[in-house]
Amino acid sequence: MSDMAKRLNQCRKPAGDTGKVVVEDMNESHFELTGWGLRKVNIQENSKILDIGCGGGRTINRLASLTPKGKVFGIDYSIDCVNWASDYNKDLVAQGKVEIYNATVEKLPFEDEKFDFVSAVETIYFWPDVVDNLKEIKRVLKPSGKILVINEIYKDEKFKDRNDEYVKMGNLKIYTPKEFEELFKKAGYRNVQIEIKEEKNWICSVAEK
Ligand SMILES: C[S@@+](CC[C@H](N)C(=O)[O-])C[C@H]1O[C@@H](n2cnc3c(N)ncnc32)[C@H](O)[C@@H]1O
Repeated sequence: MSDMAKRLNQCRKPAGDTGKVVVEDMNESHFELTGWGLRKVNIQENSKILDIGCGGGRTINRLASLTPKGKVFGIDYSIDCVNWASDYNKDLVAQGKVEIYNATVEKLPFEDEKFDFVSAVETIYFWPDVVDNLKEIKRVLKPSGKILVINEIYKDEKFKDRNDEYVKMGNLKIYTPKEFEELFKKAGYRNVQIEIKEEKNWICSVAEK
């Protein structure tokens, strides 16, 4: 397996010593991308937020600073990520402002209509059934709650050679902006807004329950 294939495999479900290196790197390398996406939404100071596929936990930390009177939850199906993200946010966990669980997006361990806002950064490529998974997220969103999905890759001719290689090596699922819009609509979301940063191949989708 090439080094790139090994890295993409770790991005799918980080674990062990190599996973820790990859997760620490993602905490750095996804920071600008995540900031770009977060500027598309209005988070309230008392919002209840869920971050799906939280990896190393930096986005949780950032969301907690945006909602000082609210609370941020995270989930990841990698138990190592849950431990690393919990350690990254240990002060907030101790203060009861952050809770992180080992769970999959297929079955979220939360009651209906719990969250104002759900984020998912660089994780949708790996989900088993995106429309079904988006419906499960809709279940835990409050009426008019919003989802924000941020990705540094979307299907586009300009990046085709690079992206084809990533898709093949990492078994990733990627979509065009139009396909993204359709996925959200199929899952029953309204007011779907897709924004791209064409020169970087970044995409950010915001949709309302
Ligand atoms: C590329 S990493 C991104 C991590 C983090 N969001 C970031 O931006 O740095 C993808 C994360 O999604 C998680 N993940 C992938 N599929 C998942 C699923 N079905 N349920 C929950 N987490 C999942 C992985 O374990 C990994 O931590």
